[in-house]
Amino acid sequence: MKIIVMNGSPRPNGNTAAMIRAYKAGAERAGHEVTVFDVCRMNIKGCLACEYCHTKDLRNCIQKDDMHKIYPVLDEAEMIVLASPIYYHGFSGQLQCAINRIYAFDHPKKLKRAALLLSSGDKGVYDGAIFEYNNSFLDYLHLEDMGIFTAAGDENKSEDLLIRLTAAGEALTEPDETEKLS
Ligand SMILES: Cc1cc2nc3c(=O)[nH]c(=O)nc-3n(C[C@H](O)[C@H](O)[C@H](O)COP(=O)(O)O)c2cc1C
Repeated sequence: MKIIVMNGSPRPNGNTAAMIRAYKAGAERAGHEVTVFDVCRMNIKGCLACEYCHTKDLRNCIQKDDMHKIYPVLDEAEMIVLASPIYYHGFSGQLQCAINRIYAFDHPKKLKRAALLLSSGDKGVYDGAIFEYNNSFLDYLHLEDMGIFTAAGDENKSEDLLIRLTAAGEALTEPDETEKLS
């Protein structure tokens, strides 16, 4: 299946990037196509709430920035992975801007599944990000949860974490045909 990963960390060799690399390696080993967008290195502005997409032209955001590199990949993806450092108990601001811009597509048409990768300094700081994931992605977008993976403090970049993430990526199967049609 086609998997889109939105990386909300600005650090190319940081903890979130390590989580993504491990998950991607496993998923690719299982035959999936994984596209990672480093949203912090892209020019992605916040949603203007102009409602052009919802009143005049759905799937066409009037803001012409790098989000238009993401939209075609999002449109074809069957799974989305949100990956972020925890900033002030939520996603990074850059990732939040990209998430809000999904609004222009309402429900991306092939998306069926989601997973969440979170890195933090402290333990137990994930409620805000998980609340958004559960309510906006699993419930509102009707996606199946393929797992929530967290790493705090010393867990970051640990061998155990990276092995678990690679195994989780490798365990992903194709959505079956009935799931695709439902
Ligand atoms: C602006 C900012 C806010 C942060 N807020 C939190 C926080 O609320 N809780 C926490 O445990 N860690 C917080 N951290 C630490 C990061 O989540 C942590 O270092 C993470 O592993 C960084 O991931 P990265 O290497 O992928 O960028 C914050 C870091 C920054 C730069």
